[in-house]
Amino acid sequence: MTGSTAAQQRDLSEVVAAAVDRRRNFAIISHPDAGKTTLTEKLLLYGGAIQQAGAVKARGEQRKVTSDWMELEKQRGISITSTVLQFDYDTTTINLLDTPGHQDFSEDTYRTLAAADNAVMLEDAAKGLEPQTRKLFEVCRMRKIPIFTFINKMDRPGREPLSLLDEIESELGLTPWAVNWPIGSGEEFRGVIDRRTREVVLFSRAERGKQASEQRLSLDDPALRDSVEEDLLDLAIEELELLEGAGAELDLEMVHAGELTPVFFGSAMTNFGVRPFLDAFLELAQRPIARSSSDGLVDPLREGFSGFVFKLQANMDPRHRDRVAFVRVCSGRFEKDMTVKHARTGKAIRLSRPQKLFGQERAVVEDAFPGDVIGLNNPGMFAIGDTLYVGPKVEYEGIPCFSPEIFSWLRNPNPSAFKNFRKGVNELREEGAVQILYDTDESKRDPILAAVGQLQLEVVQHRLENEYGVETRLEPLGFQVARWVAGGWIQLEQLGRIFNCKTVRDAWNRPVLLFKNEWNLNQLHEDHPELELSTVAPVVSGVEPISL
Ligand code: G4P
Repeated sequence: MTGSTAAQQRDLSEVVAAAVDRRRNFAIISHPDAGKTTLTEKLLLYGGAIQQAGAVKARGEQRKVTSDWMELEKQRGISITSTVLQFDYDTTTINLLDTPGHQDFSEDTYRTLAAADNAVMLEDAAKGLEPQTRKLFEVCRMRKIPIFTFINKMDRPGREPLSLLDEIESELGLTPWAVNWPIGSGEEFRGVIDRRTREVVLFSRAERGKQASEQRLSLDDPALRDSVEEDLLDLAIEELELLEGAGAELDLEMVHAGELTPVFFGSAMTNFGVRPFLDAFLELAQRPIARSSSDGLVDPLREGFSGFVFKLQANMDPRHRDRVAFVRVCSGRFEKDMTVKHARTGKAIRLSRPQKLFGQERAVVEDAFPGDVIGLNNPGMFAIGDTLYVGPKVEYEGIPCFSPEIFSWLRNPNPSAFKNFRKGVNELREEGAVQILYDTDESKRDPILAAVGQLQLEVVQHRLENEYGVETRLEPLGFQVARWVAGGWIQLEQLGRIFNCKTVRDAWNRPVLLFKNEWNLNQLHEDHPELELSTVAPVVSGVEPISL
C-alpha cells in the first residue's frame, strides 16, 4: 500500500468509526393499538423529521401513513409494508425500522428485526403483554436483541405497574429494570420518579394532541407534596423501595445481551415521558454491532462495505413497476456508484442509484454507514438474505423462514393464464411476499400459500391480479401450525405413519408438518420425543429453490 492510500484508508476508517459511534438503529415491537404510530410520530417530532403531530397518521379522510404506498394500503388506510425512518436527534443519527402496523402482520415484520440492533417493546398499560408482542419478542430473543420497554397510556387506568413488571419477568424470562416509576395512574396519574436522578417529573393533563408539561422537582423537595397527594406519592416511594430491595442493577452488559430490559412509563399521546425515554434509550442502546457470517463475526469497522438484503418490495411506484431491495449496511462505508460483489452468484454489480427512503419519499443517497438502510433497484437479482460486499468475501447468515399459521391452496381457475400464474407465484415467493409449500402427492400441483397473517394472502391475490393479470381462488386447508423436521425425510421415513398431521414440502424440498392445532403437535411430541421439530426453517445457501 502506498503512503497516500494508507493515509486515505486511515481517514476512511476514522470516518466509519465516527459514523458507527453516532448511529442507533431500532424497531418497535407491539400489538396493534398499543400506540406505535403515536410514539413514532412523537419521536420524529423530536428529531425534526416531521413538523407537526398528525403527519404520520392524519385522521378520517386524510388518513395516510407516511409509509403507505401500495394501492391496497391506500384503499384500507393501513400500513402493510415496512419502511425506514432516518432522522437526526442531537448528535445521533437514528434509524427507526418501521414494521407493518396491521393486525395481520406478515413475515416482513420478522425480517425487519433481522436488520435491527435494538427493539422497543411497547405495551399498553391496561393490557400488558399481548399476542403479537410475544411473537415478535421471540424473534428478538432468537437474535438476542436488546429490548427497551415503554409502558404506554399511563394517563388511562391501567394495571398495577408491579404486576406489569412481574409479567415481563415470569413470561418472557427477561429481567425488568424500571428506569422511572409512575405515581398513580389514569385520572390519578401524577408523573414519574426518575430512579437514577431521584427527580419527579410531574404530569399535567394537556389538551388532546398537545404536549403535556414536564415540570421536574427533587423527590426530597417539600413543594412536591403540594402537587401530589400524600398517599399516591407514599405508595410510589414504597414500591420503589421494593424494587431497590430486589437488588437488580441496571447492568449494561445484560441489556446488550437481551437479558435485562430497561422499563419506562409514559404516555405517547400526551407526549409525556417520550423525550426522557429517547434520551435514556440513546444512552443505553447498542451501536451497530458485529454480525454473524459464515466466517464468524464481521466487525462494522471492517475495511470495505458489506451488507445484506432483508426485504424486497415490488411496485413501490406503480408508474415504474420497480422493485426495491432493502439492504442493511453492516460494515464499512457504502458509496454511490460503488461496484460490489454479490456473494450468492459471485457477480460484480455497480450500484448506481442507491436510495434513501423515508416513507414515500426517496432520494439518491451518496453514502451510508453501518446501521443504515439503503434501497437498491432490483431487477430480479437480489433475494432475501443475499450479501453484498467489497474486499475479501463475506457471507452473512441468512434470514430464516418463520413458522406460518395460515395455509391455503391457491387455485388458478383459468388454465390459459397458467404461464402468468406460474411467473407471479414464483416471483412473489422469491420476493418473500409469501411462503410456498407443495403437496407430497405430485398429482396435486397447485401451490399452497403459507402465511403469518391473513392479509398476506390477500396481498398476494391482489398483486397476482393487478401485476400479472390472473384471478385466483383461495381454498383454506384448515391447518394452523407448521413445523420443519430437523432430521429431514430420512427421519420421517423411520418414524413410519404419523397421525393428525399433513406432510408437505417447502420450496427447498424439505419436509414440513402441518397440524390443526397445538394439541395435535404436542401429541406427536409425546408419541415421538426423539423427533426434533423447528418453528423456523433452516437457512439454505447455494441451493436453488423449486419453482412452480
Ligand atoms: P398502533 O399504531 O400501535 O396501532 O396505535 P396508535 O398509535 O394508532 O394508537 C392506538 C390508539 O391509542 C389511538 O386512539 C391513540 O390515540 C391511542 N393512544 C396512543 N397513545 C396513547 C396514550 O398515551 N394515551 C391514551 N389515552 N391513548 C393513546 P384511537 O382512538 O384508536 O385513534 P385516534 O382517534 O387517536 O386516531
